[in-house]
Amino acid sequence: MMNFTADKACRATMLVGFAVGLFVSFIYSSGVLRFSMIEFENVTKKYGDTKVLDKVTFNVKAGEFVTLIGPSGAGKSTLVYSLIGAEPIVSGNIKIDGYTVNNMRGRALQYFRRRIGVVFQDYKLLNQKNVFENVAFALEVCGFEREEVKNRAHEVLAIVGLGKKQHQFPHQLSGGEKQRTAIARALVHNPGLIVADEPTGNLDPDTALEIIELLLKINESGTTVILTTHNKDLVDFIKRRVIKLDGGRVVSDRKAAGYNP
Ligand SMILES: Nc1ncnc2c1ncn2[C@@H]1O[C@H](COP(=O)(O)OP(=O)(O)OP(=O)(O)O)[C@@H](O)[C@H]1O
Ligand SMILES: [Mg+2]
Repeated sequence: MMNFTADKACRATMLVGFAVGLFVSFIYSSGVLRFSMIEFENVTKKYGDTKVLDKVTFNVKAGEFVTLIGPSGAGKSTLVYSLIGAEPIVSGNIKIDGYTVNNMRGRALQYFRRRIGVVFQDYKLLNQKNVFENVAFALEVCGFEREEVKNRAHEVLAIVGLGKKQHQFPHQLSGGEKQRTAIARALVHNPGLIVADEPTGNLDPDTALEIIELLLKINESGTTVILTTHNKDLVDFIKRRVIKLDGGRVVSDRKAAGYNP
């Protein structure tokens, strides 16, 4: 009798444990329990006397894909530059993984930037280096061993589908291939965050879509992505969180959204 009761109690405990586990994993996957990776808190930025970001406040959880839209001059690129610590702000705070980026300077900022992969519209490749060297260089400057550099560079070039083009120079690549090279370079330090400012701005519609699909694939592996774009079709295709800036202010913040409300 004693054993039977103990057995029942044990089974009940296991059942409750299982139910709690299920509940917690459901809550986690819904995003409620995940901590904010990026925190913008009342961020104001000026160029001269002109306010370009005006009390911008939003949070991004680890693993999110956020598309930043807004008319030309809305402040999207300024927001991106401020996020990566490349532009000082007037007031407010920008945190990544709990670290206040706007207080970082010099070496500390340099090391911190390795957590962030940055991709620009104009690729910013080194023209005298081939695809492999463009990617490897980002590791060499950080003092990695030759073998490590080779392995990691090959790994990220395979992710972006450029394994066969690694000996070609930028002038021998299509726009899409140049952007894939830039994305591979952004991935070398295995960043938790990729920030892409108009990465498809110079590409034809099909190639642009391929680049977006690549960013979505990278996001699926757990990397947070912040993308700025003007391209309505791409935003409608992505259908993730969309933050709209206008005149340096957040005017809307929508989940699983398209370009238009
Ligand atoms: N270095 C700078 N010096 C002075 N003003 C600047 C500078 N960079 C940007 N601005 C101004 O800040 C405002 C926001 O520019 P930003 O480049 O962030 O806009 P954007 O939303 O990225 O536009 P686009 O969609 O055209 O790329 C604009 O009015 C712009 O003229
Ligand atoms: Mg811009």
